[in-house]
Amino acid sequence: MEVIIRPDSHAASVLAARLISNQIISKPSSVLGLATGGTMERVYEELVKLHNNEELDFSLVSTFNLDEYVGLAPDDPGSYRHYMNEQLFNHINIDLKNTYLPNGLAKNLKNECLRYEQKIVECGGIDLQLLGIGKSGHIGFNEPLSALQSRTRAKALTPTTIAQNAPLFPTPEDMPRRGITMGVGTILDSKSCLLLATGESKANILAKAVEGPVSSMISASALQLHPMCHVIVDEDAATELTQQEYYRWIFDNEPDWAQFK
Ligand code: PGA
Repeated sequence: MEVIIRPDSHAASVLAARLISNQIISKPSSVLGLATGGTMERVYEELVKLHNNEELDFSLVSTFNLDEYVGLAPDDPGSYRHYMNEQLFNHINIDLKNTYLPNGLAKNLKNECLRYEQKIVECGGIDLQLLGIGKSGHIGFNEPLSALQSRTRAKALTPTTIAQNAPLFPTPEDMPRRGITMGVGTILDSKSCLLLATGESKANILAKAVEGPVSSMISASALQLHPMCHVIVDEDAATELTQQEYYRWIFDNEPDWAQFK
């Protein structure tokens, strides 16, 4: 795991977008794993800018989102399909046929989860998986006690996640209580991972995930097992990390990071 601390959420988002852009430039047919949530909005804004100003080409890119709400239609304003279209897909030259999210309306959820896993394999696996972290420590909707080897499945959402996301729905009761999510094992199969966390509300859970023990109680801690994982945080989210000085030294001195300064 490599932790990079940037001065603010804008700088953190710009760096995350640059890493995604480098992935696409080095492999135009990249398979990206995508995430939703407030944190990612700034990353998608930067990717749209890179598309408009630097001709970042998404025409051969495929994407798989981490999760979707059970029971929401793709055109429901609360659905993650709607979020992705609005935040990113409608503003870049991606072929919508190559953008995959679990189908929250599937009659047979088990079959839908299996189909999603198979589709990822058919596309050659995920090259770069973008991740946020929830206040419950989740990645995707892998709530506490998600098995570290779990695969795509339906998962009940915790009160913490419901409290975090309910304000995005017309009334708290409108928020679905379950989601379909890639499993922790599915995420760990990605060739590389990029976790982005900003704001002081994430400082405590981020420190537990990065510097605490690997535990299914905090799914994000499983990323410690991944051989190629970057964690990008802003100063506010970094406050509870004990090894800040070390992380800063790496960013300031390792040649790989010189191009990003
Ligand atoms: P947020 O969500 O970016 O809205 O904080 C992150 C998450 O729950 O994974």
